[in-house]
Amino acid sequence: MDRVLNRAVGIRALAVAVVLGAFAPVAQSQIPDEFSNLKVLDQAIEKPELLETMKGFALGLGVRCNHCHVGPDNLEGMDFASDEKATKRTARRMLEMVRAINGETLADLPSLEDGEKPQHVSCYSCHRGLSEPPGHLADVLAETARDSGPEAALEQYRALRAEHLGTGRYDFSEQTLSRLARMYAEANEFDQALAILAGAGEFYDSSPSLATNTGMVHFARGDLEAARSSFEQAVEIDPEFAPARGALARIEVMLSQPDTESAVEEP
Ligand code: HEC
Ligand code: HEC
Repeated sequence: MDRVLNRAVGIRALAVAVVLGAFAPVAQSQIPDEFSNLKVLDQAIEKPELLETMKGFALGLGVRCNHCHVGPDNLEGMDFASDEKATKRTARRMLEMVRAINGETLADLPSLEDGEKPQHVSCYSCHRGLSEPPGHLADVLAETARDSGPEAALEQYRALRAEHLGTGRYDFSEQTLSRLARMYAEANEFDQALAILAGAGEFYDSSPSLATNTGMVHFARGDLEAARSSFEQAVEIDPEFAPARGALARIEVMLSQPDTESAVEEP
């Protein structure tokens, strides 16, 4: 049997359980002592180890046993062996994948020092406590932005941030919103880009890179005065911030010699 995997899943399950404070008690008596349909786990796995693995699944995905197994929430008369639910069949494939990652890919990385233990991947590594992995927040917001515009995307950012800041599920950093703004700017949708950056200012108002990105958008749309004032703001926040200093220097030149505009590269 794959001890490495089972230990890894067990340790991760424990870590996740401690973090979530969610040792949902499982009524052991509802669970059979013999297992009849194990295709990936060792057929001879001990019950406590199997349960630890299953709790790792449940916590990693933020679900209950009956997300994958046929039967009621209290496990009464549960048919654990049944493969009826697609989620269980998918979970088996996921288990094979995690086993391959931990047992093969991560086991002998060239960068591992002698005797250094590799890290392990668990269900939680991707799923972050959600039945479907959350995906990059910038992509989640971009979809909303495409469907419903920048205000809806900002509203979603605020709501997700209020709910998930600190859970590690999403990257709420300023870069996420900047990426969304860039998406708009690249499509020449400058008002939308500025709306996103203004929204980001709610959370990152003293960030030189946010001010610089705002300047870039003004610049791209040809509003040099507004661009200059954004770059100045960035330099005021952080006098050492090289991208803003460089952009400011170039824009000063452009503003003093308007006819060279086309010869100056973008900041
Ligand atoms: C994300 C899906 C998923 C969740 C959630 C889940 N399981 Fe499982 N369970 C599986 C898979 C997949 C297998 C089969 C593993 C294999 O083929 O080696 C399995 C097998 C089992 C078995 C062995 C059945 C048999 O006879 O072969 C038991 C018992 C079991 N799970 C109990 C639980 C309990 C208790 C919970 C809740 C704490 C739980 N499972 C949560 C996916 C899940
Ligand atoms: C490398 C990242 C990764 C890891 C690790 C991982 N998953 Fe997944 N899982 C995914 C992705 C991505 C999807 C979504 C696939 C899709 O629907 O496009 C998914 C989907 C699923 C689904 C179906 C979700 C649904 O409701 O449609 C289940 C069940 C599942 N995973 C179980 C597990 C279990 C159990 C583990 C741990 C043994 C695990 N996954 C580990 C990436 C991962």
